[in-house]
Order: sequence, then C-alpha cells, then structure tokens
Amino acid sequence: MNTERLLLRTVRAGDAAAYYGCRSLPTVRRYQGCPKSLAEARRRLAVSAALAPNTPRTWYQFAIIEKAGGAYAGDIAVHFTDGRQAELGYTVAPRYQGRGYATEASRAVLAWLFGELNLHRVSCSADPRNKASLGVMRRLGMRKEGHFKKSFWTGKEWADDVVYAVLNKKGK
Ligand SMILES: CC(C)(COP(=O)(O)OP(=O)(O)OC[C@H]1O[C@@H](n2cnc3c(N)ncnc32)[C@H](O)[C@@H]1OP(=O)(O)O)[C@@H](O)C(=O)NCCC(=O)NCCS
Repeated sequence: MNTERLLLRTVRAGDAAAYYGCRSLPTVRRYQGCPKSLAEARRRLAVSAALAPNTPRTWYQFAIIEKAGGAYAGDIAVHFTDGRQAELGYTVAPRYQGRGYATEASRAVLAWLFGELNLHRVSCSADPRNKASLGVMRRLGMRKEGHFKKSFWTGKEWADDVVYAVLNKKGK
C-alpha cells in the first residue's frame, strides 16, 4: 500500500533488527509489546509474513517504510479476530514520531480493511495514559466504547485499558 509519504508492505524476517530495535526502546515498550529477543522477533515476523490476511486469530503485520530514503519507521499490526472484525495496533520509532505517520499509515490500513476485506468493525485499545495513542484513535474517527479498570497485566502492574472502535459505513 502507498500513502503520500509511506510505503506499507508485509513484514519479512529481514525486518527483525529494525523491528526489535524499535520495539525494545524503553519509551516504546512502555505501552507496546516487545519480543523477548531478536531471534523471537525474527520468528514472529516470519510467521506473520507467511499468513494470508484475515486469517482468524492471527496477527498480520505491515512495515512502515518512509518513501523518501526507504527507512523503516515502524509497524502496523492487525489482529484478525473472527473474519469480520480486527484490532489495529501501531508503533512508530521515536525519531519518526510527531510527523503524522501513525495516522497516515493506519488510515490506509483501515481503508483496506473496510474496502477490500469488507470488515464490519475495527478497534484499538490503549492504556489511557498513552495520550499519543488516544490521539491516533481519535484522528482515525474512532469512538470510545469502554474503559476497563485495572484489566491488563503489563508484567509490572494492573493497568486500565480503553477501547475505541469504528464501524464500516458501507459494509453489511
Ligand atoms: C502511538 C504512536 C504511534 C503515535 O505516534 P505519533 O507520531 O504521535 O502519531 P501521529 O502519526 O498521528 O502523529 C501526530 C502528531 O504529528 C504531528 N504532525 C506533524 N506533521 C504532521 C503532518 N504532516 N500530518 C499529520 N500530523 C503531523 C501532529 O501535529 C501530531 O503531533 P501532536 O501529538 O504533538 O499533536 C507513538 O507514540 C508510538 O509508537 N508509541 C509507542 C508505541 C505505542 O504506544 N503504540 C500504541 C500502543 S496502544
């Protein structure tokens, strides 16, 4: 997929170093999952790369590539749940944040999910302290559906989880 400034392509095992380098940064892993090691990242990306989109109960991942220069800027992860719904996750490396890349990439993925794949509903969830993530959800036109108290174990504490979602305006 192409957007104005970005190329979104299926991840590959060769992205592992950039992917793990980004996910393992303390400011990123504070609110985002991180593989335990580079080897685990490589395995995770190889599994994702071999999947067909919209396989229920799988995570399909796109690398966000800057068109100008070809740098790896982050990833978009789509959790296909039941054939008609998905959960969207986004991660942008700190040096590429604050440019609108997460919103630009997520908009393109949403259009694909609602268009080509005709999904019914797409959701996102985040720790409510993650203001940058809530900003992306709002810019995507999602509405807040719920706030779950101390419902997510981060590995260190029970954190709140807010869920936002958007429905396909055209689909059935
Ligand atoms: C969540 C995350 C992806 C948001 O990244 P982001 O760069 O802030 O989000 P966007 O791509 O929507 O960019 C919006 C910002 O870019 C700015 N911007 C600059 N140029 C822009 C442009 N040309 N177009 C749009 N926005 C632009 C906007 O003003 C906005 O800045 P603000 O937040 O200061 O108002 C990022 O913080 C991140 O990866 N965090 C770690 C992982 C994480 O928490 N993921 C989500 C887990 S739920």
